[in-house]
Amino acid sequence: MTPFILVIFGATGDLAQHKLIPALFALFKTNHLPKDFYIIGFSRREFKDEEFHSYFKPQLEDPKWKDFTSHLFYQSASFEEKNGYENLNKKLLEIDEKLGACIARFFYLATPPDHYETILEKLVETKLSEGCGHDKGNWTRLIIEKPFGKDLDTAKALDKKLAEIFEEKQIFRVDHYLGKETVQNMLAFRFANGIFEPVWKKEYIDHVQITFAQDEGVGTRGKFFDGIGILRDIAQNHLLQLLAAVAMESPKSFTKEDLRDARAEVIKNVKVADNNSIIRGQYEGYKDEKDVEKDSDTETFVAMKMFVNTKRFNGVPFYVRAGKKLKKEVVEISVVFIQTCHILFKEYGCPEIGNVITFRIQPNEGISLRFIAKTPGAKLGLESVDMKFNYKEGFGTSGLEAYERVLLDIFAGDQTLFNRSDELESSWKFITEILTKWEQNKSDLLTYEQGTLGPDRSNELIEQDDKKWLLI
Ligand code: BG6
Repeated sequence: MTPFILVIFGATGDLAQHKLIPALFALFKTNHLPKDFYIIGFSRREFKDEEFHSYFKPQLEDPKWKDFTSHLFYQSASFEEKNGYENLNKKLLEIDEKLGACIARFFYLATPPDHYETILEKLVETKLSEGCGHDKGNWTRLIIEKPFGKDLDTAKALDKKLAEIFEEKQIFRVDHYLGKETVQNMLAFRFANGIFEPVWKKEYIDHVQITFAQDEGVGTRGKFFDGIGILRDIAQNHLLQLLAAVAMESPKSFTKEDLRDARAEVIKNVKVADNNSIIRGQYEGYKDEKDVEKDSDTETFVAMKMFVNTKRFNGVPFYVRAGKKLKKEVVEISVVFIQTCHILFKEYGCPEIGNVITFRIQPNEGISLRFIAKTPGAKLGLESVDMKFNYKEGFGTSGLEAYERVLLDIFAGDQTLFNRSDELESSWKFITEILTKWEQNKSDLLTYEQGTLGPDRSNELIEQDDKKWLLI
């Protein structure tokens, strides 16, 4: 693997602290990183390198941390002032000189999105965006985190700005759910197993349920989350990508553009069932959280009934919900098949729900298949039972953590698991329509008790169609 320099803007923020640095450290420990690599944290806090190293408390005890910190540097600077970038540039040139070559530079925007524009402008102003070497585009990459914009217009404007500065092959728009082993496995499950693909369509599928439940609240991220809300934070990206993994057509190949085409086609065709099919909620006590406005109307829960208007899925309802401070910490997708109680069994009573395939994205990553079995005993009776596969038991490992995979792909220049701009545009189009409706009617924000599964209305959303959430 070739040497690289990774500059993390917002290096003292939540993302760097909880995801990026731990993922880089894990890759280091498993020998996934080259001999020569440099990570430079760029943030406002006044830290010396050593203070920056000590900032990562959970890692400090690890005997390998010290070795890792010899690759970890810090540039204290404001995002608005040019001199910080100039100092950064000096550091980069020193590294180039030391190694006697132009080293690949990755600029990771891990700041709240309101800093993106300023940082991009400064990268241009100081020519850092231009990189070095012969084929400059190959050696400079820009990594940008979600939320990518606040709505369709701002997302388009941001994309335009990026396109003015970088070539498409240099831009990595992160949605770390695409890097989850379990999400990728859904495609293997669907397309590598001949027994499932033929029934993966509206003629056999009754409906799909997706639950993205988090037991934590906003915690220390109030400043980031308030005013953004769960629709932008999770639905616009992670939820739609999960839905795309269920509904996409078989890609022509597993190459970058074919996979992105298949995902984009689903997202372009997603619709909310009707105006009454979106429930939004806020957990009790949210307004008292740190850095949250006292009169905030930011939603911490959303549930929707949606349709995917493709030939394969047209008319099949997708019930999706995502929320914070819920009863459980679980991300799960269930594909519920049409229950056709065979005439032979009608008089013995068929279970209400027949076949269900459940993908457990986390925790206890795995897949289960619910089917109907005869209950033991002399009398003929039927009940649903589960056949289960669990990653840890099956393979002895749950694989790479999502950010480890995301980072490795960035280093390798593989954009398959990153959003293309048309995918983003379609998802923002969908989300912006909802946001506009919410703007017009602020009174429909429901409060829900912490430790539940959101407002009761989200149960009615599915029960009115004579179905039930399977995860309760
Ligand atoms: C992030 C969201 O993208 O994903 C967070 O900003 C959310 O609000 C997180 O908690 C969930 O990711 P994971 O990998 O912990 O399930």
